[in-house]
Amino acid sequence: MADLSGVLAGLEEQLAVSANLLQDIAIRFQTAMTAGLLGKPSSLKMLPAFVDVPTGQEQGTVVAVDFGGTNVRVLLVELTGEGQAQIIARRSFPLKNKQANYDFTTASASGMQLFDFIAGKIAEIIPTADKTYPLGHTFSFPCRQYAVNEAELISWTKELKTAGVEGENVGQLLQTALERNGIGHVHSLAVINDTTGTLLTSAYKDNTTDIGTICGTGHNSCYLEPVHPLTNQPMIVNMESGNFDQIVQTKYDICLDQDSEKPGGQRLEKMASGHYLGELVRIIVSSLVANGYMNGEVAEPLNIPYFLSTEDLSTMIADHSSGLDAVASVAVGRLGLNELRTSELVALQTIARFVTTRSARLVAATWAGVVFKIDPELKRRHTIAVDGSLYEKMPGYAEYLAQAMKEVLGIGNNQVAIRLSKDGSGIGAAIAAATVYSPH
Ligand code: BGC
Repeated sequence: MADLSGVLAGLEEQLAVSANLLQDIAIRFQTAMTAGLLGKPSSLKMLPAFVDVPTGQEQGTVVAVDFGGTNVRVLLVELTGEGQAQIIARRSFPLKNKQANYDFTTASASGMQLFDFIAGKIAEIIPTADKTYPLGHTFSFPCRQYAVNEAELISWTKELKTAGVEGENVGQLLQTALERNGIGHVHSLAVINDTTGTLLTSAYKDNTTDIGTICGTGHNSCYLEPVHPLTNQPMIVNMESGNFDQIVQTKYDICLDQDSEKPGGQRLEKMASGHYLGELVRIIVSSLVANGYMNGEVAEPLNIPYFLSTEDLSTMIADHSSGLDAVASVAVGRLGLNELRTSELVALQTIARFVTTRSARLVAATWAGVVFKIDPELKRRHTIAVDGSLYEKMPGYAEYLAQAMKEVLGIGNNQVAIRLSKDGSGIGAAIAAATVYSPH
């Protein structure tokens, strides 16, 4: 068998994000932000959200829809003011379900079917038609906003393909579906990105929050621009930072990109988000097997795209057993590699860790870029609100982020806190809707 440890060392080098590189990416990110904000060419879309941070006093019972790409969640949220938000009812539904024989994510499903499905789910949690309910809608895709309730989907990401939604006003699509389904007493008032929701939820109780990030199936960040060029007022800007492209791809990243739904787009997201990390590891492992560095054959399931998931990486990374039993079971079940030696199991776990660490360090570099842009001397406190399964569940991920922030900001890092904004993307939609009907 060829030299596996030599190959691992090479991989480590290719996937490393050194302290210098962190700094370099942060500066490039800051430059891309400035360009995008001024409408100059930039991989950052810098989309105005037409939302400012809340006061914490917004109140009411609000329906929230959280549409992220894997599931749709519908919530009934009670905002009591004083920064308190409570979820009174919640349901979550997958967008595709083999047993139930539906899939709203493919090109053969229409936007109308998708929004009828969502409206049907909302109907299930609305008590009666006795009064009108405001609704806030988190729609986690790049949208060109013209107002808080006018959001046009620019293009799908995260491999969704549902027909008839790109270029459409998604607030309107939902409102029409609500009416078609007999729940016209629910009024869609705000459409926001999930990063905005995450920021708003944290800012509702902590006014130092000025960055919101999703590290989940997808990846993106927004921030509070202190003086937006459009309004000369503070405004949240959805950067669509998953599309940031000033980062060097390995041959594995290029391979993943070429076979993806939108080659060339979402470069950072494809290197950092939960939808892709498992696939990246699968591509690396199949290349090692193909080149004889690991025992096995490139046959099913190793050659099935996206068969190895990011949850599988979590399972492997969390394995501290002496025989690496969990790694072995992923190797057998998800990669069809039955006869791996311990050194090869260690290699699998190590590759999963390299890919995951790189993801966190790239994300941290972009956060530092935002901080450099809005507060170069770090005079104020900043809170970065984060939501998403990768951040919450991947062993070590939060620590990797914190460590990278320390490296890139140095002593200034004392001014920056990172906090989980649990369910932030959904609750934030309710807060956004509440700011519309009780404007401050
Ligand atoms: C979308 C963003 C979203 C992110 C996290 C990306 O694919 O383009 O709008 O915020 O995923 O859900």
